[in-house]
Amino acid sequence: MADCDIGLVGLGTMGAALALNIAEKGFDIAVWNRTGTVTDAFHADAGDLAANVTPTHSLEGLVAALKRPRAIILMVPAGDAVDQQIAALRPLLDEDDLIIDAGNANFRDTNRRMAAPGAFLGIGVSGGEEGARHGPSIMGGGSRAHWDRVAPILTAIAADYQATPCATLLGPEGAGHFVKAVHNGIEYADMQMIAEIYGLMRDGLGRSAGDIGAVFTRWNAGPLASYLVQISGQVAATIDPATRGPLLDVIVDAAGQKGTGRWTAIEAQHLGAPIPVIEAAVAARNMSARRADRQTAEALFGAGPTPIDPAALPDDLLEAALICGKVLCYSQGFGMLASAAREFGWDLALPEVAKVWRAGCIIRSAMLDDMAEALTEAPGRDLMFAPFFADLLARTHGPLRALVATAARHGIAVPALGAGLAYFDTMRTARGTANMIQGQRDFFGLHGFARRDDGSTGQHGPWG
Ligand code: 6PG
Repeated sequence: MADCDIGLVGLGTMGAALALNIAEKGFDIAVWNRTGTVTDAFHADAGDLAANVTPTHSLEGLVAALKRPRAIILMVPAGDAVDQQIAALRPLLDEDDLIIDAGNANFRDTNRRMAAPGAFLGIGVSGGEEGARHGPSIMGGGSRAHWDRVAPILTAIAADYQATPCATLLGPEGAGHFVKAVHNGIEYADMQMIAEIYGLMRDGLGRSAGDIGAVFTRWNAGPLASYLVQISGQVAATIDPATRGPLLDVIVDAAGQKGTGRWTAIEAQHLGAPIPVIEAAVAARNMSARRADRQTAEALFGAGPTPIDPAALPDDLLEAALICGKVLCYSQGFGMLASAAREFGWDLALPEVAKVWRAGCIIRSAMLDDMAEALTEAPGRDLMFAPFFADLLARTHGPLRALVATAARHGIAVPALGAGLAYFDTMRTARGTANMIQGQRDFFGLHGFARRDDGSTGQHGPWG
């Protein structure tokens, strides 16, 4: 019977969690998975929610189970699998039946898919399995008419921030997936900066994982309150049942990545948007994977870290430095979104982006509420110029400088925090050094320069 409110393709971890969330909110959902036994097992394990779930064993069966106009969520790996799934579904659907890609798609793929015949939405979903099951953050992209058709379901399953659902249509085309990519770039940077602080405490200050975990947990009650600081405290405090020592100490120091942070760095270059903290975090992940080379280099040059006097890096200085790095990173991330909005002609409401990130997603934090407020006051203003954040930066750039200088003196790499400091210093240097670059360009290529004394442009030097 065609009475299900929505369909879902792909019962992997995220798809299964999302389907249960939808069923729990009282919607009837039809599900299909490439492997039929997975569908049956999912239905069998759905408990009380099984009544709201219709398992189907063919795409025809899935389509036949849905109310018209139909809406089907795809939760399959980004890339070719999405195109294949769309190609298999479209012939079975009517023109106005809606396909919703809820995976981590590249926004350029979403633009292309949206331009093809048939109704299409691209939504970024953040929050991991737990979020998908109990309330993710949902970043929508596509047409208002298509969004409105499924908004009752998407807002019902999303996380709430003080009774406001974290599910919003942020812009047309692939805007939702673009915002999700920037979210993930910021996620990489937040994680990297926390890891750098961890490294300073471990390698410079000789502190134990348990001790470091306690520091993060304490910070989670202050201005840094956030999901990532919270879980970092838990990760550092966790004991390995096998060794009975900190689990963190036995985890291999090579980070995986699925590519969304990298996309953010690539798109930032396309846009000419400076996001050095995020780029440093992506590069740090790439370098973490070069474990063998790092071992060779350590054998060749000697290990970097030398002990740091604890008085040089007290906990409150580390906390202030991390606050500073975080503000600078978000200022860059929102700056990149503003560039994208201009470049692509998207009406991308930055306060709405900050609001949709306040709960459910991986980068959720107390500070995002302040960011939403600052961006609402003046949506076009750089976050670092908003009085609240300008004041915070004025109070914390000293600690960030002390941290970066100490780290450099003691051979401990802090690439993301260091990139934040360089960004800050570059930004507050009204007279920079690019006059030398312009002189060089004109010398070897006659590219021309502008004069600062009389404002004339297209000038050339008598370089000789
Ligand atoms: C989220 C996460 C999610 C996933 C990333 C991890 O917002 O829920 O970002 O999308 O955890 O894919 O990315 P990496 O594998 O690249 O670290």
